[in-house]
Amino acid sequence: MGSKRAPFIVIEGLDRSGKTTQTALLQGRLEREGIPNKLLKFPDRTTTIGQMIDSYLKSASELDDHVIHLLFSANRWELASTIEKLLAEGVTVIADRYAFSGIAFSASKVESSASDPGTTIPKLPFEWCRAPDIGLPAPDEVLFLDIAPEQARLRGGYGEERYEKEEMQARVRQVFQHLGEETSSEKPQSERLAPGTKWTVIDAGKERDAVAENMWASVQSLVRGGLTQPVWKTVAE
Ligand SMILES: Nc1ncnc2c1ncn2[C@@H]1O[C@H](COP(=O)(O)OP(=O)(O)O)[C@@H](O)[C@H]1O
Ligand SMILES: [Mg+2]
Repeated sequence: MGSKRAPFIVIEGLDRSGKTTQTALLQGRLEREGIPNKLLKFPDRTTTIGQMIDSYLKSASELDDHVIHLLFSANRWELASTIEKLLAEGVTVIADRYAFSGIAFSASKVESSASDPGTTIPKLPFEWCRAPDIGLPAPDEVLFLDIAPEQARLRGGYGEERYEKEEMQARVRQVFQHLGEETSSEKPQSERLAPGTKWTVIDAGKERDAVAENMWASVQSLVRGGLTQPVWKTVAE
Protein backbone atom coordinates (compact mmCIF):
# COMPACT_ATOMS: atom_id res chain seq x y z
CA MET A 1 0.00 0.00 0.00
CA GLY A 2 1.21 3.43 -0.96
CA SER A 3 4.31 2.05 -2.65
CA LYS A 4 5.24 3.54 -5.96
CA ARG A 5 6.02 1.91 -9.26
CA ALA A 6 8.38 3.12 -11.96
CA PRO A 7 7.17 4.60 -15.27
CA PHE A 8 7.05 2.89 -18.66
CA ILE A 9 8.32 5.12 -21.48
CA VAL A 10 8.09 4.23 -25.17
CA ILE A 11 10.06 5.86 -27.98
CA GLU A 12 8.34 5.69 -31.36
CA GLY A 13 9.01 7.11 -34.79
CA LEU A 14 9.79 6.35 -38.42
CA ASP A 15 12.87 4.43 -39.45
CA ARG A 16 15.93 6.68 -38.97
CA SER A 17 14.06 9.16 -36.78
CA GLY A 18 16.73 8.57 -34.12
CA LYS A 19 15.00 6.11 -31.77
CA THR A 20 18.00 3.90 -31.11
CA THR A 21 20.30 6.91 -30.71
CA GLN A 22 17.90 8.60 -28.31
CA THR A 23 16.94 5.55 -26.24
CA ALA A 24 20.68 5.07 -25.59
CA LEU A 25 21.08 8.74 -24.60
CA LEU A 26 18.03 8.54 -22.34
CA GLN A 27 19.36 5.41 -20.72
CA GLY A 28 22.72 7.13 -20.14
CA ARG A 29 20.91 10.03 -18.52
CA LEU A 30 18.96 7.71 -16.21
CA GLU A 31 22.23 6.01 -15.24
CA ARG A 32 23.84 9.35 -14.37
CA GLU A 33 20.79 10.29 -12.33
CA GLY A 34 21.04 6.99 -10.43
CA ILE A 35 17.62 5.83 -11.63
CA PRO A 36 17.31 2.04 -12.07
CA ASN A 37 16.30 1.30 -15.64
CA LYS A 38 15.93 -1.33 -18.33
CA LEU A 39 16.05 -0.74 -22.08
CA LEU A 40 13.92 -3.03 -24.25
CA LYS A 41 13.93 -3.15 -28.04
CA PHE A 42 10.97 -4.29 -30.11
CA PRO A 43 10.93 -6.54 -31.95
CA ASP A 44 12.99 -8.55 -29.48
CA ARG A 45 14.84 -10.63 -32.07
CA THR A 46 16.31 -12.99 -29.46
CA THR A 47 13.16 -15.07 -28.84
CA THR A 48 11.89 -17.83 -31.13
CA ILE A 49 9.11 -15.55 -32.37
CA GLY A 50 11.65 -12.72 -32.68
CA GLN A 51 13.80 -14.85 -34.96
CA MET A 52 10.83 -15.41 -37.29
CA ILE A 53 10.25 -11.65 -37.38
CA ASP A 54 13.93 -11.00 -38.07
CA SER A 55 13.91 -13.41 -40.99
CA TYR A 56 10.78 -11.74 -42.40
CA LEU A 57 12.18 -8.21 -42.06
CA LYS A 58 15.34 -9.24 -43.87
CA SER A 59 13.14 -10.73 -46.61
CA ALA A 60 14.67 -14.15 -45.96
CA SER A 61 11.15 -15.52 -45.49
CA GLU A 62 7.62 -14.67 -46.64
CA LEU A 63 4.65 -14.60 -44.29
CA ASP A 64 1.01 -13.67 -44.73
CA ASP A 65 0.43 -10.06 -43.58
CA HIS A 66 -1.93 -11.24 -40.84
CA VAL A 67 0.61 -13.74 -39.56
CA ILE A 68 3.48 -11.27 -39.29
CA HIS A 69 1.23 -8.75 -37.56
CA LEU A 70 0.22 -11.32 -34.95
CA LEU A 71 3.85 -12.38 -34.47
CA PHE A 72 4.88 -8.78 -33.75
CA SER A 73 2.09 -8.54 -31.19
CA ALA A 74 2.95 -11.95 -29.69
CA ASN A 75 6.56 -10.74 -29.37
CA ARG A 76 5.29 -7.88 -27.16
CA TRP A 77 3.08 -10.24 -25.16
CA GLU A 78 6.15 -12.39 -24.48
CA LEU A 79 7.62 -9.42 -22.57
CA ALA A 80 4.38 -8.18 -20.95
CA SER A 81 4.82 -9.85 -17.57
CA THR A 82 8.51 -8.84 -17.49
CA ILE A 83 7.54 -5.21 -18.05
CA GLU A 84 4.96 -5.32 -15.25
CA LYS A 85 7.44 -6.96 -12.89
CA LEU A 86 10.20 -4.43 -13.61
CA LEU A 87 7.85 -1.48 -13.08
CA ALA A 88 6.60 -2.92 -9.78
CA GLU A 89 10.22 -3.33 -8.67
CA GLY A 90 10.88 0.34 -9.36
CA VAL A 91 12.82 -0.13 -12.59
CA THR A 92 12.02 2.47 -15.25
CA VAL A 93 11.36 0.68 -18.55
CA ILE A 94 12.31 2.37 -21.82
CA ALA A 95 11.19 0.68 -25.04
CA ASP A 96 12.64 1.33 -28.49
CA ARG A 97 9.32 0.87 -30.40
CA TYR A 98 6.15 -0.83 -29.10
CA ALA A 99 2.53 -1.48 -30.08
CA PHE A 100 2.15 1.88 -31.85
CA SER A 101 4.77 0.83 -34.42
CA GLY A 102 3.06 -2.55 -34.75
CA ILE A 103 -0.24 -0.90 -35.61
CA ALA A 104 1.23 1.89 -37.76
CA PHE A 105 3.32 -0.37 -40.00
CA SER A 106 0.65 -3.04 -40.58
CA ALA A 107 -2.10 -0.49 -41.16
CA SER A 108 0.13 1.20 -43.75
CA LYS A 109 0.37 -1.82 -46.03
CA VAL A 110 -1.61 -1.25 -49.23
CA GLU A 111 -2.56 -3.06 -52.41
CA SER A 112 -4.07 -1.74 -55.62
CA SER A 113 -7.83 -1.63 -55.62
CA ALA A 114 -9.53 -4.29 -57.80
CA SER A 115 -12.28 -1.88 -58.88
CA ASP A 116 -9.95 1.08 -59.47
CA PRO A 117 -6.39 -0.15 -60.16
CA GLY A 118 -5.02 3.41 -60.03
CA THR A 119 -5.74 3.66 -56.30
CA THR A 120 -4.54 1.74 -53.29
CA ILE A 121 -6.50 0.33 -50.38
CA PRO A 122 -5.32 -0.93 -46.98
CA LYS A 123 -4.57 -4.64 -46.81
CA LEU A 124 -5.53 -4.90 -43.14
CA PRO A 125 -8.34 -2.95 -41.45
CA PHE A 126 -7.12 -0.49 -38.83
CA GLU A 127 -9.35 -1.99 -36.11
CA TRP A 128 -8.03 -5.46 -36.88
CA CYS A 129 -4.46 -4.18 -36.50
CA ARG A 130 -5.26 -2.75 -33.08
CA ALA A 131 -7.03 -5.76 -31.65
CA PRO A 132 -4.16 -8.12 -30.69
CA ASP A 133 -2.49 -5.47 -28.51
CA ILE A 134 -5.58 -4.83 -26.39
CA GLY A 135 -4.69 -5.49 -22.76
CA LEU A 136 -0.91 -5.04 -23.11
CA PRO A 137 0.79 -2.91 -20.47
CA ALA A 138 0.44 0.64 -21.82
CA PRO A 139 3.22 3.20 -21.51
CA ASP A 140 2.84 6.21 -19.24
CA GLU A 141 4.40 8.34 -21.97
CA VAL A 142 5.14 7.93 -25.66
CA LEU A 143 7.84 10.15 -27.08
CA PHE A 144 7.05 10.29 -30.79
CA LEU A 145 10.19 11.32 -32.66
CA ASP A 146 8.65 13.20 -35.54
CA ILE A 147 10.57 13.69 -38.76
CA ALA A 148 9.62 14.03 -42.43
CA PRO A 149 10.50 10.88 -44.43
CA GLU A 150 12.56 13.02 -46.83
CA GLN A 151 14.69 14.27 -43.95
CA ALA A 152 15.02 10.77 -42.45
CA ARG A 153 16.26 9.56 -45.84
CA LEU A 154 19.09 12.12 -45.77
CA ARG A 155 20.47 10.29 -42.71
CA GLY A 156 22.25 7.81 -44.94
CA GLY A 157 19.28 6.49 -46.89
CA TYR A 158 16.94 3.77 -45.80
CA GLY A 159 18.42 0.37 -45.15
CA GLU A 160 17.81 -3.02 -46.63
CA GLU A 161 14.83 -4.04 -44.54
CA ARG A 162 11.36 -4.55 -45.88
CA TYR A 163 9.55 -1.39 -44.72
CA GLU A 164 12.35 1.07 -45.38
CA LYS A 165 10.83 2.78 -48.39
CA GLU A 166 9.83 6.42 -48.48
CA GLU A 167 6.20 5.98 -49.60
CA MET A 168 5.62 3.42 -46.89
CA GLN A 169 7.24 5.72 -44.31
CA ALA A 170 4.94 8.58 -45.33
CA ARG A 171 1.88 6.41 -44.71
CA VAL A 172 3.32 5.17 -41.41
CA ARG A 173 3.81 8.77 -40.27
CA GLN A 174 0.13 9.49 -40.98
CA VAL A 175 -1.02 6.48 -38.94
CA PHE A 176 1.27 7.54 -36.08
CA GLN A 177 -0.31 10.99 -36.17
CA HIS A 178 -3.75 9.38 -36.03
CA LEU A 179 -2.67 7.21 -33.07
CA GLY A 180 -1.36 10.35 -31.39
CA GLU A 181 -4.74 12.02 -31.79
CA GLU A 182 -6.49 8.97 -30.35
CA THR A 183 -4.12 8.93 -27.41
CA SER A 184 -4.16 12.68 -26.93
CA SER A 185 -5.23 14.13 -23.63
CA GLU A 186 -7.49 16.50 -25.58
CA LYS A 187 -9.97 13.63 -25.75
CA PRO A 188 -12.14 12.36 -22.88
CA GLN A 189 -10.27 9.57 -21.11
CA SER A 190 -12.93 6.97 -22.01
CA GLU A 191 -12.34 7.57 -25.74
CA ARG A 192 -8.59 7.26 -25.74
CA LEU A 193 -6.55 4.40 -27.13
CA ALA A 194 -4.64 4.11 -23.86
CA PRO A 195 -6.32 6.19 -21.18
CA GLY A 196 -3.22 6.90 -19.10
CA THR A 197 -0.73 7.41 -21.90
CA LYS A 198 0.69 10.86 -22.55
CA TRP A 199 1.62 11.33 -26.21
CA THR A 200 4.44 13.80 -26.72
CA VAL A 201 5.61 14.87 -30.17
CA ILE A 202 9.34 15.60 -30.24
CA ASP A 203 10.91 17.40 -33.20
CA ALA A 204 13.40 14.73 -34.29
CA GLY A 205 14.87 16.91 -37.03
CA LYS A 206 16.97 18.84 -34.49
CA GLU A 207 20.53 17.86 -33.64
CA ARG A 208 20.82 14.93 -31.27
CA ASP A 209 21.65 16.74 -28.03
CA ALA A 210 18.74 19.12 -28.51
CA VAL A 211 16.39 16.17 -29.11
CA ALA A 212 17.77 14.45 -25.99
CA GLU A 213 17.22 17.59 -23.89
CA ASN A 214 13.63 17.94 -25.07
CA MET A 215 12.95 14.29 -24.29
CA TRP A 216 14.48 14.60 -20.84
CA ALA A 217 12.47 17.76 -20.11
CA SER A 218 9.33 15.81 -20.94
CA VAL A 219 9.99 12.71 -18.82
CA GLN A 220 12.11 13.90 -15.91
CA SER A 221 9.31 14.53 -13.40
CA LEU A 222 7.80 11.14 -14.25
CA VAL A 223 11.05 9.22 -13.75
CA ARG A 224 12.03 11.16 -10.64
CA GLY A 225 8.61 10.99 -9.01
CA GLY A 226 7.34 7.51 -9.83
CA LEU A 227 3.65 6.64 -9.94
CA THR A 228 1.05 5.30 -7.54
CA GLN A 229 -1.60 4.11 -10.03
CA PRO A 230 -1.37 0.59 -11.50
CA VAL A 231 0.13 0.05 -14.95
CA TRP A 232 -2.33 1.20 -17.61
CA LYS A 233 -3.66 -1.22 -20.22
CA THR A 234 -4.23 -0.50 -23.88
CA VAL A 235 -7.95 -0.67 -24.59
CA ALA A 236 -10.30 -1.01 -27.50
CA GLU A 237 -12.06 2.20 -28.49
N1 LIG B 1 19.42 14.23 -34.37
C1 LIG B 1 20.12 13.64 -35.35
N2 LIG B 1 20.62 14.38 -36.36
C2 LIG B 1 21.29 13.78 -37.38
N3 LIG B 1 21.51 12.46 -37.50
C3 LIG B 1 21.02 11.68 -36.53
C4 LIG B 1 20.29 12.22 -35.40
N4 LIG B 1 19.92 11.18 -34.60
C5 LIG B 1 20.38 10.07 -35.18
N5 LIG B 1 21.06 10.35 -36.32
C6 LIG B 1 21.67 9.39 -37.27
O1 LIG B 1 20.60 8.91 -38.08
C7 LIG B 1 20.73 7.50 -38.29
C8 LIG B 1 19.51 6.79 -37.74
O2 LIG B 1 19.48 6.89 -36.31
P1 LIG B 1 18.86 5.73 -35.41
O3 LIG B 1 19.00 6.17 -34.00
O4 LIG B 1 19.45 4.41 -35.78
O5 LIG B 1 17.33 5.78 -35.87
P2 LIG B 1 16.16 4.70 -35.69
O6 LIG B 1 16.53 3.81 -34.56
O7 LIG B 1 14.94 5.53 -35.41
O8 LIG B 1 16.04 3.99 -37.01
C9 LIG B 1 22.03 7.09 -37.62
O9 LIG B 1 23.05 7.12 -38.60
C10 LIG B 1 22.26 8.18 -36.58
O10 LIG B 1 23.60 8.36 -36.27
MG1 LIG C 1 16.59 1.74 -34.43
